[in-house]
Amino acid sequence: MSPHLIRPDADPVGRNDRPLTVTVDGAPVTGAHGQTLATVLLADGRSHWRTAPTGGPRGVFCGIGVCFDCVATVNGVPDVRLCRRPARDGDRVTTQSRTGAGDE
Ligand code: FES
Repeated sequence: MSPHLIRPDADPVGRNDRPLTVTVDGAPVTGAHGQTLATVLLADGRSHWRTAPTGGPRGVFCGIGVCFDCVATVNGVPDVRLCRRPARDGDRVTTQSRTGAGDE
């Protein structure tokens, strides 16, 4: 799996993308229908979007919904596994942290 989004005109498969836009901590990020939220964020150059209690960065680890390393808040719902969640136009992703009191 490549974390980079291939432009439709350069894709040898000849897919017909339908673009979408989500926000990550308020910043717009573009993707395509069919991607998970994790692949939208990876293609945007993000390697992590959560902070573990130890302070370490967390993003995709297993990529198949088992490890829960990739969780974030989506449309106000916390602990959504971004590797399993299809991206939808207008989704609002908020990064999470468990490093101290008051964090999500
Ligand atoms: S990367 Fe492991 S659950 Fe998403």
